[in-house]
Amino acid sequence: MEEGAIYVAGGVNSGFRSGIRPTPLVFARAFGCRLIDIDGNELIDYYLGMGPMILGHNPAQVIEAAKNQLDISVLVGGQTPLEYQAAQLLTELVNSAELVRFASSGSEAVQVALRTARAATKRWKIIKFEGHYHGWFDNVFLSVSPDISKAGDPLNPHVNPGTAGQEISNNVIVLPWNNVELIEAHLKSGEIAAIIMEPVMFNIGGVMPASGYLERVREICTKYGTVLIFDEVITGFRVSVGGAQGHLGVTPDLTILGKALANGFAVAAIVGKREFMNLVGTGQVMHGGTYNSQSISMAATATTLQILKSGIPYRNIDETGKALMDGLRREFSRARIEHEVVGYPAVFNVHFDLKSPTDYRTAMQLNRLRYQNFAFEMLIRGIRILPRGTWFLSSAHEGSDIDRTLDTVREVLKAGI
Ligand SMILES: Cc1ncc(COP(=O)(O)O)c(C=O)c1O
Repeated sequence: MEEGAIYVAGGVNSGFRSGIRPTPLVFARAFGCRLIDIDGNELIDYYLGMGPMILGHNPAQVIEAAKNQLDISVLVGGQTPLEYQAAQLLTELVNSAELVRFASSGSEAVQVALRTARAATKRWKIIKFEGHYHGWFDNVFLSVSPDISKAGDPLNPHVNPGTAGQEISNNVIVLPWNNVELIEAHLKSGEIAAIIMEPVMFNIGGVMPASGYLERVREICTKYGTVLIFDEVITGFRVSVGGAQGHLGVTPDLTILGKALANGFAVAAIVGKREFMNLVGTGQVMHGGTYNSQSISMAATATTLQILKSGIPYRNIDETGKALMDGLRREFSRARIEHEVVGYPAVFNVHFDLKSPTDYRTAMQLNRLRYQNFAFEMLIRGIRILPRGTWFLSSAHEGSDIDRTLDTVREVLKAGI
């Protein structure tokens, strides 16, 4: 590890970056789909900064827009035309986006959505699902990756804190995902302000919504006056340019966007139906932030969205992503590893030794340790993938990168995992 790391608590600036084998990595450079670490090792990158870099690490147009903006303004404590351009693009791309508010991280944007839902319904309780991640704040960093032995009844899970020092709210109900009857039983109380979920569960496991599940949740939210919030921080612009909601055809009331929205700049957004977003617009619901819609980030956001809207990046990602998913299936089958590759060309998950989990508890039955060993063996051979099973693709990955990745998979499997 770099010597200077002794000055940073734990050597990392996000808790999710600690505990990575062999040691927290320190990088010197990034370009295209490549990372260079401080020892000069070149890695093909499927982390992509935990998802944002959908156009790769240094897409010329985005970098140019940000550089140009540096000479114009950085932070004005007011508005610039850029944020209106970016917001308009979001309303064109995302079905639920009638109005937009930009924030500086997904975690913050989630808070705006929850506050808005409570204000709109005058109710206090929120339903979240076991294994879903909505940021690291006290009221949602609950039952994200609980120890199953302490997680209680699968149909009525305990609300497990994720960290020391966390204030636990009595207003959060944790349920297993993909079980609409349980949700309806709770909604009938008339006390639930909002349901928040990842519409495809990518943070833990890579779990797809059961057929008809999202549609039914949409229906009962409307029936019982509960606000439906899709957290599309990962799925946004990756499942499709219109996110999971565009691809799966279910429109929530409010949506959280982040990550691929700005190709690595610190931007997130809460978007949604006018009737809810107007509560924020009129100031009844407070949403602040010194760095919200900072000019350089907005220049990057507007340019990223224009490029995504053109559809061009997806042509490449569809091809390379499908080739990679198919290639992985082929290699794991050859090595006689029971596996499943689920998801979409721009974001998918690999499961070892159990097929088709439906929720957190079943996803925990996957052979995670075996996968972590696989990811480690890939890393030391120059391919960086997430130990939790997720792969992110960018439009900078080329066919030759996929070939090299699959060659490495073959080598790793031959050596045995
Ligand atoms: C689904 C989901 N929601 C919210 C967040 C929090 O976003 P941020 O890290 O920008 O605060 C993340 C981050 O990984 C996420 O995956």
